[in-house]
Amino acid sequence: MLFLQVAALAASFAGFTTAQSLDPSGTQRVIPTLSPQINALPSLTPTIYDESAPDPQACPGYKASNVAENDHGFTADLTIYGANCQAYGNDIADLTLEVSYQAKERLNVRIYPKNIAPANSTQYILPAHLVEQPDWDGKTNANCSDLAFEWSNNPTFQFRVSRVSTGEELFSTYGHVIVFEDQFLELVTNMVDDYNVYGLAENIHDFRLGTNYTQTFYAVDAGNSIDGNVYGVIPFYQETRYGQNGSETTAHGMYARNAHGQEWLLRANTIAYRTLGGSFDLYFLSGQKEDGSSSALTTISQFQVGCIGTPAMQMYWTFGFHQARWGYENISVDQSIVDGYRQADIPLECLWNDLDIYDLYRDFTNNDITYPLPEFTNFIESLHANGQYYVPIIDSNIYVPNPDNASDAYAPFERGASLQTYIRDPTTGDFYYGDNWPGFSVWADWLLSTSQSWWANEIIQWHKGTPFDGIWIDLSEASSFCAGSCGNGRLTENPAHPPFLLPGDPLTFDFNYPEGFNITNATEAASAAAASASQASAISASPILPAATTTTQGRTEPTPGVRNLNFPPYVINNVQAGHALGKSSIAPNATHNDQYNTTEYEMHNLFGYQISNATYHALIELFPGRRPFTVGRSVFAGSGKTTSHWGGDNTSTWGSMFLSISQAFTMMMSGIPMFGADTCGFARNTDFQLCSRWMELSAFFPFYRNHNVKAAISQEAYRWSSVAESARRAMAVRYSLLGYMYTLFYHAHTKGETVMRALAWEFPNDESLRGTFSQFMLGPSILVTPVLVPNVETVQGVFPGIGKGERWYDWYTLAEVDAQPGENVTLQAPLEHINVHVRGGSVLVLQEPKLTTAETRKTPYSLLVALSSDNTATGNLYLDDGESLQPNATRLVQFSYSNNCLSFTSDGDFHSAPALGNITIAGLHEQPQHASLKSGGKDCDYSELSTSFDGGVLKISGLDKYTSNGAFEHDFELNFS
Ligand code: NOJ
Repeated sequence: MLFLQVAALAASFAGFTTAQSLDPSGTQRVIPTLSPQINALPSLTPTIYDESAPDPQACPGYKASNVAENDHGFTADLTIYGANCQAYGNDIADLTLEVSYQAKERLNVRIYPKNIAPANSTQYILPAHLVEQPDWDGKTNANCSDLAFEWSNNPTFQFRVSRVSTGEELFSTYGHVIVFEDQFLELVTNMVDDYNVYGLAENIHDFRLGTNYTQTFYAVDAGNSIDGNVYGVIPFYQETRYGQNGSETTAHGMYARNAHGQEWLLRANTIAYRTLGGSFDLYFLSGQKEDGSSSALTTISQFQVGCIGTPAMQMYWTFGFHQARWGYENISVDQSIVDGYRQADIPLECLWNDLDIYDLYRDFTNNDITYPLPEFTNFIESLHANGQYYVPIIDSNIYVPNPDNASDAYAPFERGASLQTYIRDPTTGDFYYGDNWPGFSVWADWLLSTSQSWWANEIIQWHKGTPFDGIWIDLSEASSFCAGSCGNGRLTENPAHPPFLLPGDPLTFDFNYPEGFNITNATEAASAAAASASQASAISASPILPAATTTTQGRTEPTPGVRNLNFPPYVINNVQAGHALGKSSIAPNATHNDQYNTTEYEMHNLFGYQISNATYHALIELFPGRRPFTVGRSVFAGSGKTTSHWGGDNTSTWGSMFLSISQAFTMMMSGIPMFGADTCGFARNTDFQLCSRWMELSAFFPFYRNHNVKAAISQEAYRWSSVAESARRAMAVRYSLLGYMYTLFYHAHTKGETVMRALAWEFPNDESLRGTFSQFMLGPSILVTPVLVPNVETVQGVFPGIGKGERWYDWYTLAEVDAQPGENVTLQAPLEHINVHVRGGSVLVLQEPKLTTAETRKTPYSLLVALSSDNTATGNLYLDDGESLQPNATRLVQFSYSNNCLSFTSDGDFHSAPALGNITIAGLHEQPQHASLKSGGKDCDYSELSTSFDGGVLKISGLDKYTSNGAFEHDFELNFS
């Protein structure tokens, strides 16, 4: 949702009244709005700040008994050791403990109720068919595990996990009780001093989470909630410990597989893990490689490969630049955007449309006036003809037609209703009618297989007139603009206007500009301030909608035998007003249609995961054999297998841009590497400086899209000459490196490697980098040092490893960086320039940047060899057709430079036509005097090539004559002497 001032009016509502307003077309109409229902409010404080809240650690804990060993661990009974304490729910007296050495690097600890009611009514245990549940590998046991499990009953059950090789304690509940209630679970682990913990995505926070931070998990329609809950829930953290007195840095991780609302309380020397239900299903990852050493990157890969699944391989074109906006009003505007990019010579791979294409905000429709068929179909086909692509939005809600208005038919709803495929209101048994852009709406129940077939059918039918290439799934938290099934008995008022002004409605223009705008644009800043004040007074003179209220009960008392789903006794710090779980989302007590009538209380955090899965499978049906491209807003652990993700609804501020880097790191850790933020900022107005710097920065994020809200100024890259130039230059670097980016994705997809990387991951022994996110690596070879503040022409950055054997080269000049160990080097950074450095030891395969990825892919290859301090380098390149789910031909090329010889070996059947044109070698100490060249085993005449040598850089061109049937068809060897 938006972060406009007026959006505050959208707080929480529970019944409708009538008010006058303007619909987006500017016509006066009577609209139903939502009136307050105020409940008794004992406390609106989330439990973490509520000093009167019970301390769950006063609960009695459990004793273990009946230990039974098995092939891969043991089971035991856990029995409550005292009276029920009812801290935030009803205690479950009898539990089962399962300890399983699942794989050498992975230990699983499960604690769940001994007697799970068949109707799953009190404790929902996340089933393996919904979210991948790692299992025993069939061979590991305690004797061959990296990890050891130890427990004690003194004074109550407690356990610790340690590293076998060194005895390092990784997790320990010693000194704390385990709390297991029907609406509250708690486990506390001891932590080392000043610990370094990362992850717990999704968050908008510093990269290193710190020792005084609470991560709340509850998927929420709030994009810019710094330090709060956001759209995604990936309960995995990675911890790094820097070696003391010369010992090695170690790393390990923990994934807690539970989809309930939850909180992680990071405090000095402890982390408390609290959930609103479910079970403990904990996966400890040793982070160890074969040689016994451990690292963050290995831990992250173990999480993806062993626990949640590795990310989907993306189509090649998706790495091009994307332009979206809410507010592209008609086909001519769409066309003008495409033309604007072309005229400015800026690559545009894919155009996106937001809600504007729809008729009255209804999914799968086309607005007959602004986006009529067949003109719109023809427009999209013209993009295709130019090697460009098209992606539209699909919202998660489905409009419910007005039963009293025969002309208000909406077939997608009717088809779903005939299959009974929607989530239900428990009080009426009817569908759950919430509210969203189109008015009262329903949501698919993804627990039904019919929902999948219905959804696929809608997508496939719609594609006939709107021939899209991918799908953008929005509002999948799932967002509802009211509290409860507010459309009950009110459907005759549809299409009801959302209970707040829409961007683009009168009085909604956004007059905010980025930090520093008042310095560079003093006059405009002053007039914006004046216009903002006059808009505010116009709103207050004639309030259009009723003031916001919240529907909340704060902390409720646990009641024996009853679970309070809408207002659980433990109040998580949900960023919504009043912290109520039902605020701006489907209420927790809404029910599903499975045999257990599973509730939203259990399913809430999975809606985004499920709708993305459903969309992925719909796209496979639509484009058999082709990799689906879906970009989803709400994600869960494992979403990366099917979807990409964007950091939606940020703001056009320098702070938002900076935090997009740490947010990206957490997505890389979470197996969702196809991530990017709304470049230039979504809400608020951007300016040329911020947009220049952001176009530069995002060029090094996997998903590169500029997106903007409706009621702000336009921000396509060609709107300012400076932004256009910044974009052209940064995109030239990106498009040269597309093969490298694609290869990084191949390694992410096959091995769980990361694409963007924190310096701390690449240089694990340098403790000074433990919190750095002002610089980052793209893969192992490219260092990016963006400008993150306004009004500067320099930037400071470090060059890790200098003095310890690392060499770094400026991307543009190939000059070697001359810096002292640990020096914070001041780099020139004029507005149109982003600092990019190549790490010594790398071989990069480059192509010539063109206006589309397809054109770029046809240009000759060149190799850039950046030598390490021992004059070596390696690299690799993965090739396939760029779109098949299971390509029938692939090729992997491995490059190496050592002993004055550059060679590559090439394996596979994929034929890539372009020749190898040039080779550049940077970091040579002297010009080689003699050379011999072999391609495909045949001797080639080196003297026929043109060469130059300057400043340690050898450039060789003219190689295409020896590689004209494809650069990498044969092995290759270039020897210098
Ligand atoms: C919210 C999304 O996050 C944003 O990207 C989109 O523009 C608006 N919804 C309107 O669809």
